[in-house]
Amino acid sequence: MLKGVILTGGHGTRLYPLTKVTSKHLLPVGNEPMVFHSVKQLTTAGITDILIVTNPEHVGDFASALGGGKDFGCEFTYRVQEEAKGIAHALALAEGFAGGDRIVVLLGDNIFETSIQHAVNDFQAQQRGARVLLKEVSDPERYGVATLNGNHIVAIEEKPEHPKSNYAVVGAYFYDASVFDIIRTVEPSARGEYEITAVNNTYIDRGELEYSLVQGKWVDAGTFDSLTEAHQILLNSSDDQ
Ligand code: G1P
Repeated sequence: MLKGVILTGGHGTRLYPLTKVTSKHLLPVGNEPMVFHSVKQLTTAGITDILIVTNPEHVGDFASALGGGKDFGCEFTYRVQEEAKGIAHALALAEGFAGGDRIVVLLGDNIFETSIQHAVNDFQAQQRGARVLLKEVSDPERYGVATLNGNHIVAIEEKPEHPKSNYAVVGAYFYDASVFDIIRTVEPSARGEYEITAVNNTYIDRGELEYSLVQGKWVDAGTFDSLTEAHQILLNSSDDQ
């Protein structure tokens, strides 16, 4: 069985003062709070057991906005990330929830124009290891960037000054149960965070990282400009998001 994890921590400082009293992931995008988009990505792909990881200030707001899951045809579990120490640190909180099952992890501020179902299918067909989603972008230095050799990712660099490709590693990750052992080996980066890129590079070292390409538009809605773009993408989307 595949379970879902949505990460909604962080302080949304680049969107201040919109984030003064609420989480970035509850701001309106399209006609709904941002996090609804990630929930629907998972439920439309048949993933209905979903963990929301958030910070202590906002966990009550998420519980009010999402409830138990009845309205979405899924079941939510909530966990609190006490300190904002990075994506891998937040994901470590999902170990008990995963209970040995494989997981799809979405960053709650990543907005996709179309369904990620194809990548879920690719992952389900995969024997072991992990999968990431790549998107060609014009500003790769803002993201994790994949170096490709033929059909293989040979390295991922986190926000490199001189990106070796235009392929951003977007915020949708697919992991087998070994991800939690890998997270335990990760050291904090120069920015003091447990980086998801370090986790993905370990899968590369094991020869176990595959990728799919994002179909349609993608945006990381963490800034005013990208939030506007996310809004337009969802309002124009022919999908029922
Ligand atoms: C994070 C990841 C980065 C990824 C991005 C996608 O960056 O570290 O590898 O490309 O999400 O949204 P952050 O938004 O935490 O700076």
